[in-house]
Amino acid sequence: MNRRVVLVLTLMLALVGGLVFFTVTHQRPKVPADADHLKSDDPQACLSCHGRGKPHARTKNHPLNDHCWECHERAR
Ligand code: HEC
Ligand code: HEC
Repeated sequence: MNRRVVLVLTLMLALVGGLVFFTVTHQRPKVPADADHLKSDDPQACLSCHGRGKPHARTKNHPLNDHCWECHERAR
Protein backbone atom coordinates (compact mmCIF):
# COMPACT_ATOMS: atom_id res chain seq x y z
CA MET A 1 0.00 0.00 0.00
CA ASN A 2 1.28 3.43 -0.72
CA ARG A 3 1.42 6.14 1.87
CA ARG A 4 -1.65 8.04 0.73
CA VAL A 5 -3.87 4.97 1.07
CA VAL A 6 -2.54 4.40 4.58
CA LEU A 7 -3.22 8.05 5.47
CA VAL A 8 -6.81 7.99 4.17
CA LEU A 9 -7.57 4.71 5.98
CA THR A 10 -6.14 6.11 9.22
CA LEU A 11 -8.29 9.24 8.96
CA MET A 12 -11.41 7.18 8.26
CA LEU A 13 -10.77 4.99 11.30
CA ALA A 14 -10.22 8.07 13.47
CA LEU A 15 -13.51 9.57 12.28
CA VAL A 16 -15.48 6.38 12.97
CA GLY A 17 -13.84 6.04 16.38
CA GLY A 18 -14.71 9.64 17.22
CA LEU A 19 -18.38 9.18 16.27
CA VAL A 20 -18.68 5.99 18.33
CA PHE A 21 -17.05 7.71 21.30
CA PHE A 22 -19.42 10.70 21.06
CA THR A 23 -22.50 8.46 20.75
CA VAL A 24 -21.52 6.36 23.76
CA THR A 25 -20.73 9.37 25.98
CA HIS A 26 -23.83 11.44 25.08
CA GLN A 27 -26.71 9.13 26.01
CA ARG A 28 -29.93 10.89 26.91
CA PRO A 29 -30.74 10.38 30.57
CA LYS A 30 -34.17 9.01 31.55
CA VAL A 31 -36.67 11.27 33.28
CA PRO A 32 -36.70 10.22 36.94
CA ALA A 33 -40.00 8.79 38.27
CA ASP A 34 -40.13 11.06 41.33
CA ALA A 35 -42.76 13.56 42.48
CA ASP A 36 -41.23 16.52 40.59
CA HIS A 37 -41.37 14.55 37.35
CA LEU A 38 -44.76 12.84 37.69
CA LYS A 39 -46.66 16.06 38.37
CA SER A 40 -46.88 17.26 34.76
CA ASP A 41 -45.95 16.18 31.23
CA ASP A 42 -46.01 19.72 29.88
CA PRO A 43 -42.63 20.89 28.54
CA GLN A 44 -43.41 24.35 29.94
CA ALA A 45 -43.48 22.77 33.41
CA CYS A 46 -40.17 21.00 32.68
CA LEU A 47 -38.62 24.28 31.65
CA SER A 48 -39.64 25.95 34.91
CA CYS A 49 -36.80 23.92 36.45
CA HIS A 50 -34.64 22.94 33.48
CA GLY A 51 -34.99 26.12 31.38
CA ARG A 52 -32.19 28.60 30.84
CA GLY A 53 -31.20 30.42 34.01
CA LYS A 54 -33.34 28.09 36.15
CA PRO A 55 -31.91 26.11 39.11
CA HIS A 56 -31.47 22.85 37.13
CA ALA A 57 -30.81 24.33 33.71
CA ARG A 58 -29.76 21.93 30.99
CA THR A 59 -26.11 22.22 29.99
CA LYS A 60 -25.01 24.55 27.22
CA ASN A 61 -24.50 21.57 24.90
CA HIS A 62 -28.06 20.32 25.30
CA PRO A 63 -29.92 20.01 21.94
CA LEU A 64 -31.96 23.12 21.11
CA ASN A 65 -35.32 21.38 21.15
CA ASP A 66 -38.04 21.64 23.78
CA HIS A 67 -40.16 18.60 22.86
CA CYS A 68 -38.73 16.68 25.81
CA TRP A 69 -40.63 13.43 25.15
CA GLU A 70 -39.23 12.99 21.66
CA CYS A 71 -35.92 12.13 23.27
CA HIS A 72 -36.35 11.41 26.98
CA GLU A 73 -38.25 8.38 28.27
CA ARG A 74 -39.53 8.02 31.77
CA ALA A 75 -37.56 5.74 34.08
CA ARG A 76 -39.73 2.91 35.49
C1 HEC B 1 -39.61 20.93 40.29
C2 HEC B 1 -38.44 21.00 39.39
C3 HEC B 1 -38.39 20.03 38.21
C4 HEC B 1 -39.35 19.84 37.22
C5 HEC B 1 -40.73 20.49 37.07
C6 HEC B 1 -38.77 18.89 36.29
N1 HEC B 1 -37.51 18.50 36.71
FE1 HEC B 1 -36.26 17.22 35.76
N2 HEC B 1 -34.97 17.24 37.34
C7 HEC B 1 -35.10 18.08 38.44
C8 HEC B 1 -34.04 17.75 39.38
C9 HEC B 1 -33.81 18.46 40.73
C10 HEC B 1 -33.29 16.70 38.80
C11 HEC B 1 -32.08 15.96 39.37
C12 HEC B 1 -30.87 16.83 39.44
C13 HEC B 1 -30.37 17.25 38.10
O1 HEC B 1 -29.98 16.38 37.28
O2 HEC B 1 -30.34 18.48 37.83
C14 HEC B 1 -33.90 16.42 37.52
C15 HEC B 1 -33.44 15.46 36.63
C16 HEC B 1 -33.94 15.28 35.33
C17 HEC B 1 -33.38 14.41 34.33
C18 HEC B 1 -32.21 13.47 34.53
C19 HEC B 1 -30.90 14.23 34.45
C20 HEC B 1 -29.74 13.27 34.64
O3 HEC B 1 -28.62 13.76 34.42
O4 HEC B 1 -29.94 12.09 34.97
C21 HEC B 1 -34.13 14.54 33.19
C22 HEC B 1 -33.93 13.84 31.85
C23 HEC B 1 -35.19 15.48 33.50
N3 HEC B 1 -35.03 15.91 34.79
C24 HEC B 1 -36.18 15.85 32.61
C25 HEC B 1 -37.33 16.53 32.97
C26 HEC B 1 -38.52 16.62 32.14
C27 HEC B 1 -38.68 16.05 30.73
C28 HEC B 1 -39.45 17.32 32.86
C29 HEC B 1 -40.89 17.65 32.48
C30 HEC B 1 -41.79 16.47 32.42
C31 HEC B 1 -38.82 17.70 34.14
N4 HEC B 1 -37.55 17.18 34.17
C32 HEC B 1 -39.43 18.44 35.14
C33 HEC B 1 -36.08 19.04 38.63
C34 HEC B 1 -37.24 19.18 37.89
C1 HEC C 1 -33.31 16.17 20.50
C2 HEC C 1 -33.36 15.31 21.65
C3 HEC C 1 -33.64 15.96 23.02
C4 HEC C 1 -34.73 16.72 23.38
C5 HEC C 1 -35.91 17.14 22.53
C6 HEC C 1 -34.55 17.02 24.78
N1 HEC C 1 -33.40 16.46 25.25
FE1 HEC C 1 -32.65 16.58 27.15
N2 HEC C 1 -30.97 15.56 26.57
C7 HEC C 1 -30.72 15.06 25.30
C8 HEC C 1 -29.39 14.46 25.27
C9 HEC C 1 -28.74 13.78 24.05
C10 HEC C 1 -28.84 14.64 26.56
C11 HEC C 1 -27.45 14.23 27.03
C12 HEC C 1 -26.51 15.39 26.70
C13 HEC C 1 -25.06 15.06 26.96
O1 HEC C 1 -24.75 14.07 27.63
O2 HEC C 1 -24.24 15.84 26.47
C14 HEC C 1 -29.86 15.32 27.36
C15 HEC C 1 -29.69 15.69 28.69
C16 HEC C 1 -30.68 16.28 29.48
C17 HEC C 1 -30.55 16.59 30.89
C18 HEC C 1 -29.32 16.33 31.75
C19 HEC C 1 -28.46 17.59 31.83
C20 HEC C 1 -27.75 17.91 30.52
O3 HEC C 1 -27.95 19.01 29.98
O4 HEC C 1 -26.99 17.05 30.02
C21 HEC C 1 -31.73 17.15 31.30
C22 HEC C 1 -32.08 17.66 32.70
C23 HEC C 1 -32.60 17.23 30.14
N3 HEC C 1 -31.93 16.69 29.05
C24 HEC C 1 -33.87 17.74 30.15
C25 HEC C 1 -34.64 17.98 29.01
C26 HEC C 1 -35.91 18.71 29.01
C27 HEC C 1 -36.57 19.31 30.25
C28 HEC C 1 -36.35 18.74 27.72
C29 HEC C 1 -37.61 19.44 27.17
C30 HEC C 1 -37.77 20.87 27.55
C31 HEC C 1 -35.36 18.02 26.91
N4 HEC C 1 -34.35 17.59 27.73
C32 HEC C 1 -35.46 17.79 25.53
C33 HEC C 1 -31.61 15.08 24.24
C34 HEC C 1 -32.80 15.80 24.19
